[in-house]
Amino acid sequence: MEHVRIRTVKKEDFLEIMNLASKCAPIPIERDSIYHLFTKYFANTCFVAEKDNKIVGYILGFISQLEKNIAYIHNICISPDLRRKKIGSSLYQKFFQNMKKEKCQKIFLIINPSNKLSISYHESLGFNISKEGEEIYIEGIRATKNYNGPGKHMVIMCKSL
Ligand SMILES: CC(C)(COP(=O)(O)OP(=O)(O)OC[C@H]1O[C@@H](n2cnc3c(N)ncnc32)[C@H](O)[C@@H]1OP(=O)(O)O)[C@@H](O)C(=O)NCCC(=O)NCCS
Repeated sequence: MEHVRIRTVKKEDFLEIMNLASKCAPIPIERDSIYHLFTKYFANTCFVAEKDNKIVGYILGFISQLEKNIAYIHNICISPDLRRKKIGSSLYQKFFQNMKKEKCQKIFLIINPSNKLSISYHESLGFNISKEGEEIYIEGIRATKNYNGPGKHMVIMCKSL
């Protein structure tokens, strides 16, 4: 693996994370302010990968405030020029370890059914497609109908720790 350092986020990481997010297609572009939520209010469940003091990857998650044994991953992104070097896997391992320490039992995330690469990547990390909600099959993939609003079907994935 590339020599990268994995650490929890700091408030000051906001801009760098926001800039990297803009290069992380097919993840949709979001309001910039969302990155403040993670770097300021969920810093204990978000991690960055740093190479030469530059952020080259991040994973942003949080623990449910209602069900403390459930964590949710908002997104993960690795700098396009540094993919396939196990940086994503290292960020995940760090996230899994920390969630276990926090006594989380399940981790959820959602993926657009067209992002087939991400679905198989998450399956290889131990996530399964959840049967939650009304089903709809898109190119053979089980998604939850209208999960993100009318016509916006999403694949819900879950990993048990
Ligand atoms: C998905 C993503 C986070 C993976 O991170 P990464 O650091 O590149 O992945 P890793 O090096 O840890 O990959 C581990 C394994 O996953 C699989 N994999 C990862 N990227 C792949 C690709 N583009 N094509 C095929 N297999 C792939 C491979 O089996 C790989 O192992 P290998 O390289 O030894 O064959 C990264 O591609 C990314 O940032 N994508 C854009 C944003 C995105 O889609 N995020 C997920 C949305 S929920």
